[in-house]
Parts: sequence; structure tokens; C-alpha cells
Amino acid sequence: MNNSKIEKKLAAEKAVTFLKDGMVVGLGTGNTAEFAINAIGERVKQGLQIQGIPTSESSHKLAESLGIPLTDFSNNIAIDITIDGADEFDPYLRLIKGGGGALLREKIVASATSKNIVIVDASKKVERLGKFLLPVEIIPFAKDLIMDNLAENGLSPKVRMNNKTPFITDEKNLILDLNIYNQRNLEYLEKRLKSIPGIVETGLFLSTTSMVIMGEGKEVKIFD
Ligand code: 5RP
Repeated sequence: MNNSKIEKKLAAEKAVTFLKDGMVVGLGTGNTAEFAINAIGERVKQGLQIQGIPTSESSHKLAESLGIPLTDFSNNIAIDITIDGADEFDPYLRLIKGGGGALLREKIVASATSKNIVIVDASKKVERLGKFLLPVEIIPFAKDLIMDNLAENGLSPKVRMNNKTPFITDEKNLILDLNIYNQRNLEYLEKRLKSIPGIVETGLFLSTTSMVIMGEGKEVKIFD
């Protein structure tokens, strides 16, 4: 296992120690979240009683295959802890997410969660968000209008591809990846993006994070 994977696994295993019997747990998406789901599967086998709410079809499949009991918002509208990854986090625990294309369900789950634990390897720590392109999920019907608007505003939108065809999200939408490196006011950017008809959600998570657990070498660091 390479260093980044070891760091992801360490962070994931630490996060899982926060789970207790009876909790409803949001299950994130991505490689780091997969380490957490696998660790939760192990603890469920040992008797931990939780119910999971997955943030993507792939996490749903993995959790089901491990025998983790699952639920949804028709049964539970409050989530105790969500464990999810991130593409970048800054000193204010603001995030860019959506590298795996699951940002919409991830944001919905994060918004319904009391304690959001973000798990990362050390490469995700930045002073300023935006080296990673910001994913936004859009309705396909509005693609050209939105691309035009964003290009005029200097955000250089690119349609995310999956080999030679556009990447399609679990909600059957498209992802645009935006260059936001020169944007200083992220709260304003978030409002501006959300006001464009056809943009469903952005990968900016500005105020949901309770704690970041970062693997670094063989250590785990906590930011809260
Ligand atoms: C998926 C995400 C992931 O959490 C993010 O892309 C990090 O992925 P990884 O753990 O594979 O580095 O936001 O939409």
C-alpha cells in the first residue's frame, strides 16, 4: 500500500472509533470513505449496532455487501455522524468535494448531520482552496447556458468526462469542473453559483465540517 493509502486508512480507522451503538451514520464516497465503510463493516460484524445512509450508489453497494444495515430519510431525518473524504481542506475546515462526482448526495447528507467527520491523507491540506478544480452538478438541459455564463465570469468550466462520454452522476446530471483559484470570497461565489438556474449544487462545503482527521506518515492529526 502506498503512503497516501496508508494515511487514508489511518484517518478512516480513527474516525470509526467515534461511532456508538444506536447511531445513524452517513457513509461517504471515494477511496478514503471506502476504508471507513470497510472498517465499519468489521465493527458491525463484531456487534456494533448502527444504521448507515450512503452518499452514492457505489457506497450503497459496498455497505450492503459488508452487511451494514442501511436506512434512508423516510425513516430517519437526522444523522448523528457522517464520515466522508474531501479533495481539499483549508485552515477554516472549508472543503472542496466532488472529485468522485457524488457531491450532491454528500452535501444533502452533510446538511442533515450533527457531526461531520472529514477523513483525508496529508495531500488534501491547503492554505487556500482552489488548486483542485471545483465540481458543480448541473442539469444537462441547461449545460450550454451555464457554460457560457461561467466562462464569461472567468471560471473556465470543463465538462467532466468518463473516457469519451460525459460523466453522469447518480442523479443523472452532469459535472462541470471550475477554476476558482482566483476567487477570494468563497461565500459570495457559492451564492452566485447557486443563483444560476440549472446548477443543482456545488462542491464547496463551507460550514458543515466538525472535524478533519488527517493521516500524515504513520500519525493521525485532528483539526477541529
Ligand atoms: C466524492 C468526494 C470524495 O470524498 C473526494 O473526491 C475524495 O476522494 P478520495 O477519498 O478518493 O481521495 O468528494 O464525491
